[in-house]
Amino acid sequence: MTAVTSVRVPVPRAARSVLLIVHLVAIAAWIGLDVALGLLVLVPMAAHEWTAACYQVLPLLFWPLLTAGLLSALSGVALGLVTRWGLVRHWWVAIKLVINLVLIVLVALLLGPGLDAAGEFGRALAAGEVPAVEVPRLYMPPIVSTAALVVATVLSVVKPKGRLRA
Ligand code: HEM
Repeated sequence: MTAVTSVRVPVPRAARSVLLIVHLVAIAAWIGLDVALGLLVLVPMAAHEWTAACYQVLPLLFWPLLTAGLLSALSGVALGLVTRWGLVRHWWVAIKLVINLVLIVLVALLLGPGLDAAGEFGRALAAGEVPAVEVPRLYMPPIVSTAALVVATVLSVVKPKGRLRA
């Protein structure tokens, strides 16, 4: 039986273009959300009076971030299956798959609870209470995520030679 990774599903050119557009829009949205996340974390560091407002907005970014990550992965996997690139045939695609999956797990398991804690912290500050929660350092996630997405973008455009399988 042919391994799923070496299957090339025949689809019309227009459908491939739609998939690529979805892929690129998901990635553009993902990077934009990372920039918003970075701003909402950095502004309170420079101007404390913005902490309550910025922290209350942070939890709203969770679902858009997760959706962008999942959409990027799903459209990427589909592109791998319908183009000559395959899923784990070329190492640049395989590395992108790993990067994408690791980022999704980090958003779901680490960032999500951190954003919730920041929201609770912001609400307590806005109500004039002493926050009962501690907020983890949130400046690393946007830096790590943006850097990883830039690496994946460079790999996608350069498409370095090198196969994992024929
Ligand atoms: C980590 C996040 C990702 C980023 C930033 C990213 C970025 C990009 C970009 C910028 C392109 C367009 C390249 C071009 O047309 O020259 C592209 C195409 C592509 N991506 Fe992704 N990608 C990501 C995730 C994935 C995943 C998870 C897969 C599959 C496992 C994948 C598979 C592909 C394939 C096969 C193409 C080529 C489509 C074609 O040329 O017909 N990508 N990606």
